[in-house]
Order: sequence, then C-alpha cells, then structure tokens
Amino acid sequence: MYIVGINGSHREQSNSELFLDYVLEKFQTDHEVEKINLLDKHIAFYDACDACVQNKPCHIQDDMHSIFESLLKADVVIFSSPTYYGMPSARLKNLMDRTDMFFASKQLQGKIGVVITNGAGTFAGIELNAKMVRHFFDDHKMVNIPVYACFNNTKDYPENRFPAPLSEKVRKMLDELYENAVDIAEKIRNF
Ligand SMILES: Cc1cc2nc3c(=O)[nH]c(=O)nc-3n(C[C@H](O)[C@H](O)[C@H](O)COP(=O)(O)O)c2cc1C
Repeated sequence: MYIVGINGSHREQSNSELFLDYVLEKFQTDHEVEKINLLDKHIAFYDACDACVQNKPCHIQDDMHSIFESLLKADVVIFSSPTYYGMPSARLKNLMDRTDMFFASKQLQGKIGVVITNGAGTFAGIELNAKMVRHFFDDHKMVNIPVYACFNNTKDYPENRFPAPLSEKVRKMLDELYENAVDIAEKIRNF
C-alpha cells in the first residue's frame, strides 16, 4: 500500500510529527511511505474559483500540485495535527480546503483516513479537532477507521512537548491505530 502522512503542525519537532513518525515507521516495514511536512510547503488559500468542479486544472501554482498527486496515489492518508481552538491547524485546514479539487469527482473515495490530534488542554477540544477531520473524510467518501488517537495535556510537559521516547500508553494507542488501519485496508482489498 502507499501511505501518505501529513504533519499539520506549525512547529519544528512537534508532537504531531513525533506521533506521525511513530506510525509511519510501523507502516514502513511492509508498505511504501511518504511524509509531508506542511511547514515546508507553500500552499495558497483556495479562492473558491470552482474551476475544479468544472474539471479544469487548478490555476494556483504552488506546492499543492505535488500533494494532489500524493493524495491520489495514497491508499491510506494520515493527518496529524495540533488542536487550535478545538480545530485542526490552519495549515491542515488550508490543505483540506484545496482538496475541493477532489470533492465533486469523489477522487478520494475509498481511501482510508486516519487522524491523530494533540493539545494542551482537556479532551473536549482535541476530540472536536479529530471529529472535524473525520467529517472531512466522510465528505470525501473516504473510509473512516473506527479508532483515532487523541493526546492531551501537553501543558504538563516542557515546551508543551511530549517527552521522547513516547510512553508505553501512547505507543499502545498508536499501535492500535496502525493495526486497525492495516486490518481495514486488507479487508477492503480482499472484498
Ligand atoms: C493559538 C493556539 C490555540 C490553541 N488551542 C488549543 C485548544 O483549543 N485545545 C488544546 O488542547 N490545546 C490548544 N493549544 C495548544 C496546542 O494544541 C498544543 O501546544 C499542542 O500540543 C501543539 O502540538 P504540536 O507540537 O503538534 O504543534 C493551542 C495553541 C495555540 C498556539
């Protein structure tokens, strides 16, 4: 399978990246993996021109074009994002808006969507963040895996960063996420 992992954090050495790297490393054993750091990408705002709805190519010349290719190639798409006011980071939200390219044509249909969120506060905002991403997967008719990972209380740690190496509890949750994604992907392939 082709796995695309997208890190939506605004920070270098973020929690989002730490969690994403852990899961991608697991996939790497048997699958082809691509990691995209939105921090390194220039992605302009969508201008709602609707050209893509009329099957015209996207006229905005930026890094989104290579990401379109990666998303089309992907069997599994993983979004890892911090929580900002109960929402995904603006970088990730911006990417989601640009995928309007695929909304009408349903080109992401059937791809497996995986979400990992983290935040400094209670679970309420972090789960809301994950819920929004899962709604995005639903809108694109992607396959939402039943397990998603949310991590909270980063304010308990220096610089709001989870200590590395990750604790056994965190690893267990990410392992479960990975196993569920693989299990569902294999069921879909054998259907
Ligand atoms: C503008 C802003 C808004 C935030 N809003 C929330 C929030 O609503 N809930 C929460 O739990 N944490 C919130 N946080 C804290 C971050 O989600 C937290 O520091 C997170 O661990 C950063 O993740 P990263 O290391 O992957 O970037 C906010 C941080 C910033 C800068």
